Amino acid sequence: MKLEIQTALFHIPLFLIPCNAKLGKMQSPTLRFRNSPKKIPAAAKVWEKFEKNPPAFTALPKQQLNAIRDWSKGERKKWKHILVLGIGGSTLGGQALIQSLGHSSKPKVYFLDNLDPLHTNLLFKKLHWKKTLVLVITKSGDTLETIAQFFVVKQKLGKGWRKHIVAITDSKKGFLRELAEKEKLTSFSVPSDVGGRFSVLSEVGLIPAALAGVKVKDLLQGAAAVNPREAFDFAKLHAAAYRKGKNITVFCPYSYRLRSLGEWYAQLLAESVGKSAKVGITPEVSIGAADQHSKLQLWSDGPNDKFFIFLKVEDFGVNHNLPDVSKEFSHLVGKAFLEILHAEFEATTQALAEKQRSLAVWNLPNLKAETLGYLLQFFMLEVAFLGEILGVNPYNQPGVERGKVLARKRLSGN
Ligand code: PA5
Repeated sequence: MKLEIQTALFHIPLFLIPCNAKLGKMQSPTLRFRNSPKKIPAAAKVWEKFEKNPPAFTALPKQQLNAIRDWSKGERKKWKHILVLGIGGSTLGGQALIQSLGHSSKPKVYFLDNLDPLHTNLLFKKLHWKKTLVLVITKSGDTLETIAQFFVVKQKLGKGWRKHIVAITDSKKGFLRELAEKEKLTSFSVPSDVGGRFSVLSEVGLIPAALAGVKVKDLLQGAAAVNPREAFDFAKLHAAAYRKGKNITVFCPYSYRLRSLGEWYAQLLAESVGKSAKVGITPEVSIGAADQHSKLQLWSDGPNDKFFIFLKVEDFGVNHNLPDVSKEFSHLVGKAFLEILHAEFEATTQALAEKQRSLAVWNLPNLKAETLGYLLQFFMLEVAFLGEILGVNPYNQPGVERGKVLARKRLSGN
């Protein structure tokens, strides 16, 4: 695996980092960077700190999976639907995994991550409550939206609710943990030293994924293959682009299956880096090729204030060949959707590079568990490094906590 940092148009590697990661049968994602800023921060102290004291989430790819796999294997046979209750870091990772890897799973997994009454109504209509297992995921065990959802769902489940509920929460504290102990609910623990948005490879993401039949072993194998040094180099480039005025990061996969990965990355970036009036990057999620027809004009000719992360999927496992086409479209003869999508991808990234926009371009071999695991771990490392390079604490979220306190006060009439 290699990370090539390339200049616009000419694809001349500025530097090439050999990677000795053992990937087994995995085909590696590769990454190119176009229009790299000239001044890249050294950030040696950030790297030293990481080597001395790596954040707890970096150990998750090495965890034992037996308990999760054995339990979920039995549960998958019992239920028709899985309903996941939770919000933010407690479900965005799970949603990214299910959308990309478990979308047509049996049992089918649904997420409820908001209190929108109409959306809730429509979702509830799809569920067969007697055959639904409900995962309640909240690290603190106290989040307003999740607990409110839980009480409504508990009523829907009726008398036998206990055998339908699985609590995924802190091992010691919070309302949900206390309830799980008191009512003897099935429960799993969220590692106390891993924050919500860094927890996708813990029980928070692995349990919904395993229930959907995702190959969680492959997912962790992909995550374990990441060379932190590559994520660090990428973070340095991202930081350099930000310092050159690119205070918006556009995350643009050419696949609907990766939209939720974009939403997950948006939270990771926004909450980890946005910490003061002086430091913050605004994330924006777009989908190619559709958004070429709504945003490309702005990206290309508008302010040069964006850093782009484009993701191309080489193989979707399916394709649609074009039948005979009318002669005006002779350039489409013998083509298939994938070829056209790829041509659009290359054309868009080229057009932006020609306009001196900064781009990171990922080539993903497929949408398999190893690839997703690799991306998730790479981006968590990248954003953790980015926060440190920009001089902020990437692991807290005081603004979110303040919002929670004020909402509670309002509801208490204070
Ligand atoms: O990243 C974070 O810390 C937040 O987005 C939380 O995940 C979110 O507020 C949900 O919190 P909890 O898991 O405690 O319910």
